[in-house]
Amino acid sequence: MDWGMKNRLSRIIRPSDGRTVMLAVDHGYFLGPTTGLEEPRKTIEPLLPYADTLMLTRGVLRRCVDPSMDVPVVLRVSGGTSVLKDDLSDEGLTVSMNDAIRLNVAGVALSIFVGAANERQTLLAMADLIDEAEECGIPVVAVTAVGKDMVRDARYLGLACRIAAELGAHIVKTYYCEDFEKVVRACPVPVVIAGGKKIAEKDALELSYNAVKRGAVGVDMGRNIFQSENPVAMIKAVREVVHNNATPEKAYDLFKTLSARKQQKKKTA
Ligand code: R5P
Repeated sequence: MDWGMKNRLSRIIRPSDGRTVMLAVDHGYFLGPTTGLEEPRKTIEPLLPYADTLMLTRGVLRRCVDPSMDVPVVLRVSGGTSVLKDDLSDEGLTVSMNDAIRLNVAGVALSIFVGAANERQTLLAMADLIDEAEECGIPVVAVTAVGKDMVRDARYLGLACRIAAELGAHIVKTYYCEDFEKVVRACPVPVVIAGGKKIAEKDALELSYNAVKRGAVGVDMGRNIFQSENPVAMIKAVREVVHNNATPEKAYDLFKTLSARKQQKKKTA
């Protein structure tokens, strides 16, 4: 592995503890102005100081993020479909490697749809992307198991993650499931989990805790942070779990304390 690749990987996954809190705000690429991301700049700015990595599209990066910020970017480079379609798997590459380099990204991300109608198209797109990214020393994050009809169990997620790793992905993003350690054990590259649909803060912290305990290097979380009643408190609580091994109870206490403090400030303002 060359220096550039190693350097970029170490910007995505913190070498001090081998963990990462990636903030995912790329949902608009097929969901449009989804709840919490109607005005991306307003959502992203207060969260940036607590994100190890920012995952988003080039349009939002260019228009809604200050170029002087120093959080490494993982750029979503796949798309081509929308939530209006029944089959979300009809994706292709949407960004050239030249543009990714111009945007000074630490990594690129695309979705693969194992088991879906367009499985082959998305896997071959990933293989092409990896060939190009390897030449430039840019890690590829494979996003697995997005879709309405996917059964997210260890068998399916293990299959999708392993295929991504076998084809050369440098990091795999998947979902937490029962027997998650089996998924991680069979995947020879680092695994991060997505948060999925918004759930109660305590449950999302528990999900994060279980994932890192069972071998994930961290989270690439979106809705459970930016749709929280208090996104900054939530990302700080997630950090406690990921970087300091806080129990879900301890992290939730922190979330409640920070939320109460904010409430108090609002009252006295
Ligand atoms: C999904 O297509 C996007 O790549 C999201 O980044 C991913 O699902 C993670 O976000 P969330 O935690 O909201 O599931």
